[in-house]
Amino acid sequence: MAAVKRDPVIRVTAMPADTNAYGDIFGGWLLSLMDSGAGLLAARHSRGRAVTIALDGMKFHLPVKVGDEVSVYAEMKRVGRSSMSIGIEAWRRHRTEDEEVKVTEATFTFVAIDDAGRPRPIDQESEQE
Ligand SMILES: CC(C)(COP(=O)(O)OP(=O)(O)OC[C@H]1O[C@@H](n2cnc3c(N)ncnc32)[C@H](O)[C@@H]1OP(=O)(O)O)[C@@H](O)C(=O)NCCC(=O)NCCS
Repeated sequence: MAAVKRDPVIRVTAMPADTNAYGDIFGGWLLSLMDSGAGLLAARHSRGRAVTIALDGMKFHLPVKVGDEVSVYAEMKRVGRSSMSIGIEAWRRHRTEDEEVKVTEATFTFVAIDDAGRPRPIDQESEQE
């Protein structure tokens, strides 16, 4: 995924409230951002409610520091009957520098659901990405 050439689905500044006991950014905060970013793409693609059913291949390559800009990039990898496999990467940029560095990646699987919470078919004709 050529993240630097794509628009992020989420971009935020890592803040002191997001740190772990050691002063670095808490992995759970990053994971939450990635889940939210994948959720945005899943909802848009399926034109409705979609929920996380699985998370695979999560890897934290590097720490994130307070004040870093964090960008989340999402890429639709596969669309099934009701499920979507979405590649997610999080990149950090020191707030005074230009270079972006990949810090985490994972594949999220979302399922489109109806009002009753049951899987619903995704309209293959209206795929957005
Ligand atoms: C999403 C949910 C409604 C799916 O119900 P289900 O009975 O498991 O659905 P199915 O077995 O029919 O599978 C639905 C789709 O998910 C896929 N799927 C099921 N388990 C999967 C897994 N572990 N990994 C990847 N895909 C999976 C199936 O292959 C199927 O895909 P397809 O329709 O594209 O062929 C149900 O599992 C659920 O409500 N889970 C909780 C979701 C949630 O609350 N997430 C937030 C967590 S806080």
